[in-house]
Amino acid sequence: MIPDKAPGEDVLHAPEDLKKEAHIPSFEKYKELYIKSVESPEEFWGDIAKDFFWKTKYTGKFLDYNFDVTKGEIFVKCMEGATTNICYNVLDRNVHERKLGDKVVFYWEGNEPGDEKTVTYRELLQQVCKFANVLKSQGVKKGDHVSIYMPMVVELVVAMLACARIGAVHSIVFAGFSAESLCERIMDSQCCLLITADGFYRGDKLISLKLIADEALQKCRDKSFSVEKCIVLKHLTKEDEATIPGSLSPPAKRACPDLQQEKQKERIKKVRPSPQVPWNPEVDMCWHSLIGGASEECEPVWCESEDPLFILYTSGSTGKPKGVLHTVSGYMLYTAATFKLVFDYHPDDVYWCTADIGWITGHSYITYGPLANGATSVLFEGLPTYPDVSRMWEIVDKYHVSKFYTAPTAIRLLMKYGSEPVLKCKRDSLKILGTVGEPINPEAWQWYYSVVGEKRCPVVDTFWQTETGGHVLTPLPAATPMKPGSATFPFFGVVPAILNESGEELEGPSEGYLVFKQPWPGVMRTVYGNHLRFETTYFKKFPGYYITGDGCRRDKDGYYWITGRIDDMLNVSGHLLSTAEVESALVEHEAVAEAAVVGRPHPVKGESLYCFVTLNDGISYDQKLEAELKKQVREKIGAIATPDYIQSAPGLPKTRSGKIMRRVLRKIACNERDLGDVSTLADSSVIDELFENRCGNQR
Ligand code: WTA
Repeated sequence: MIPDKAPGEDVLHAPEDLKKEAHIPSFEKYKELYIKSVESPEEFWGDIAKDFFWKTKYTGKFLDYNFDVTKGEIFVKCMEGATTNICYNVLDRNVHERKLGDKVVFYWEGNEPGDEKTVTYRELLQQVCKFANVLKSQGVKKGDHVSIYMPMVVELVVAMLACARIGAVHSIVFAGFSAESLCERIMDSQCCLLITADGFYRGDKLISLKLIADEALQKCRDKSFSVEKCIVLKHLTKEDEATIPGSLSPPAKRACPDLQQEKQKERIKKVRPSPQVPWNPEVDMCWHSLIGGASEECEPVWCESEDPLFILYTSGSTGKPKGVLHTVSGYMLYTAATFKLVFDYHPDDVYWCTADIGWITGHSYITYGPLANGATSVLFEGLPTYPDVSRMWEIVDKYHVSKFYTAPTAIRLLMKYGSEPVLKCKRDSLKILGTVGEPINPEAWQWYYSVVGEKRCPVVDTFWQTETGGHVLTPLPAATPMKPGSATFPFFGVVPAILNESGEELEGPSEGYLVFKQPWPGVMRTVYGNHLRFETTYFKKFPGYYITGDGCRRDKDGYYWITGRIDDMLNVSGHLLSTAEVESALVEHEAVAEAAVVGRPHPVKGESLYCFVTLNDGISYDQKLEAELKKQVREKIGAIATPDYIQSAPGLPKTRSGKIMRRVLRKIACNERDLGDVSTLADSSVIDELFENRCGNQR
């Protein structure tokens, strides 16, 4: 399946000096280890497991599983019988056994340039132990679920690792989600406590997180689900600004450090209002007051390999998000190994992943993977374009970042501003560049490779999903010759296949459904609270395979190219959204009778949201209604789901059985007149009207 020799043509190679020091220095070595990982997983992963601390060793098979729904329940178990603690492994082991206590774990860089903090492994361990004791004092115990809704601050990592230390399950909700989405996730995951912050700035924009969290908790109460404990980090307000019960804090100037540059000083001079922080003493507790008195001693709770570690929600095609559940040991081994080998990690690296911890990329490649390796990372709160479009490269220079991991949407956004903002920074520390989240178009890949990396840094295009826990198709930087736009080959232990519609495996160059034939340690174990949905979504269509939901092409050299989602999912700026989720938010508006949402290619975001709405009788479409609908979606889901286009449609193209023909709507959104086979269309008269009034005609 994997060629014996990498192709010599149409590919780009890593520089020789990178190969000399690399963990996997050649394609031949990759292939040899790949075969070992698939044929003797126990031996392959056993070597990796040796680096970790196990309170007790595993007793059964290394990997026990059933991937075939026709043979019974789907399950995956890794290292059953072993007990360990992931927090111990990523902190105590580094501090005590590996003597990395004084090593920097995070260079935290705030939204404002100059707002910064350095944290060592020892300091992080102390904070985590203290906060774990805080959680315990609030009655949180092993197996309890804790929701975390926080900005990109070190305390977010503290909160997640404190949960892991006591065996509690964290459920992090990205801080861009709305109150409604947070409420839904808190209720679905049955959390007993919420951890949040007063607010944060994204560029110039204040996000009053506590207000949103309060609204979410109220929504939970309205639905008879009560969370009576909320720990609030004062990130923007100060301790003594704690507000009177039920009242709002007065606007205050935000303390900002002295900054060198004139431009920055000017900006900082502006009054930065503090967020409003309503305070209910019966529910709300201040992070700093609680942690102040807590002990630094906290024995980790030893967990079984298959104990749950976290739940993280991802969009589902029915519209209701799925609580993807990952467990302790397999996830630990997999994120540690992928981090080390895909970024070819070495102890003197400074690594920076620009993702938010609220997404899986942040879970696996800001927290668990890098920390398992004792790495030093940049943790960035801000935006790539604030205060200007050189920010990323300035940070790269400031901390001498050597491994840099970002999303295609960020690359395309920065590309629009040309090379000058990049070239004015040195970037000579960079060694490896990575991308994740969506297919990267070859043009953006080339720009990243040539302009940002000056053709000396391999680009690792990592394909994976919330469900896969870590990278599954990816180049290894020194071993895999690159093809711009291809995620290349499988990581160790991963066996991909391409199926046609009838479920037959295609050989050689082909295109079809991307599936995996056997589990790897980091694959998800279930959808929390709904194992049947797990089986139906990922295993039912093609028994015996895990279905990714992505289309894929394999070329003559065996390289895999992801072609995008083939289900009802959209990928906007690397965030997966289900069309059903957006549609149900739209039809909740009283003016809307029916809605259909499709993706339309977008030069920066990858895809944009194009919505067709059929209005109720007697209602006419105007700008006010459009604004209301956009607001409605933002409030139901979050700003990431804001529609780009809304078209009022007198009717929608449907099959005779009443199914909306999204394929046709996609063509209309893109103004592609060749509709293909429309023989099943019930009433074609609506099509001309939709083309005529499509958004963008006038622009
Ligand atoms: C897409 C993000 C092409 C894909 C880690 C997948 C990609 C979905 C790539 C998962 C890539 C992610 N090339 N497509 N390198 N990486 N995707 O769960 O459609 O947020 O199924 O996990 O993103 O998104 P998720």
